[in-house]
Amino acid sequence: MNTVKTVRELRAAVAQARAEGKQIALVPTMGNLHAGHAALVEKASQRADFVVASIFVNPLQFGPNEDLATYPRTLAADQDKLVEAGCHLLFTPDVDEMYPQGMQGQTLVSVPGVSEGLCGASRPGHFDGVSTVVTKLFNMVQPDLAIFGQKDFQQLAVIRTLVRDLNMPIQIIGEPTVRAEDGLALSSRNGYLSAEQRAVAPTLYRGLEQIAAAIAAGERDFAALVEQARAQQVAAGFRPDYLEIREANSLRPATADDRQLVILVAAFIGSTRLIDNLALDLDGAPQ
Ligand code: PAF
Repeated sequence: MNTVKTVRELRAAVAQARAEGKQIALVPTMGNLHAGHAALVEKASQRADFVVASIFVNPLQFGPNEDLATYPRTLAADQDKLVEAGCHLLFTPDVDEMYPQGMQGQTLVSVPGVSEGLCGASRPGHFDGVSTVVTKLFNMVQPDLAIFGQKDFQQLAVIRTLVRDLNMPIQIIGEPTVRAEDGLALSSRNGYLSAEQRAVAPTLYRGLEQIAAAIAAGERDFAALVEQARAQQVAAGFRPDYLEIREANSLRPATADDRQLVILVAAFIGSTRLIDNLALDLDGAPQ
């Protein structure tokens, strides 16, 4: 695997792969890779001949009181994991390479609708930062396909929408969330948890499973289900951010008639904010 830091080197390496007739896949990440990221790269290497991963902790998507400064940076370990997962090219730009004119005045890509509410409400500007950096990466690599985790369900919806609305010829693939044995969704931010917080953290997903089971059994009083799960979160020591049941394709609030649902949660444990979701297809098997 080659590691490059500049757009010029990136474009040259991708151009060579393309000249060899290779299909290009992109896996954008912020590093501190875990088994969830490895699954994205493995999927990419099954679906394309040349896999590009990026590691860039994007300042544009962090709020002023968020963890940009402390976000874990573990490049050497990440490189080993990427090699093992089948990555061919790693792009690790500096902030100046991504934003040579600075971030003030940077053209922003803004996706209305699906980016509103949920994380969009709790983290103002976050999805503009994500959409902008993902658009830049797409323009730099021009991949045939790009792979993202379903753990960031709203982010995936935002990216699917921007690709559709801006006519980008890129196939977007969502990969299922990878979980620890106790159900906790793998996340770079899990590393912030103390042993006690880590023991409590899987309660979040168990709450989603309880809601999903109740809905699958015919319950349609969504407000009551949410209220009950929120109370359980508080009792377990969480500070709830949001817990909502939405229609899975549009992300609008769910109605009793919807068949494709997603239950989305964000909650703080100590100062760490965890997110998770569970999609539920009432016409098929639970996802
Ligand atoms: O999901 C992430 O790690 C980031 O939001 C992404 C897509 C790499 C953009 O910075």
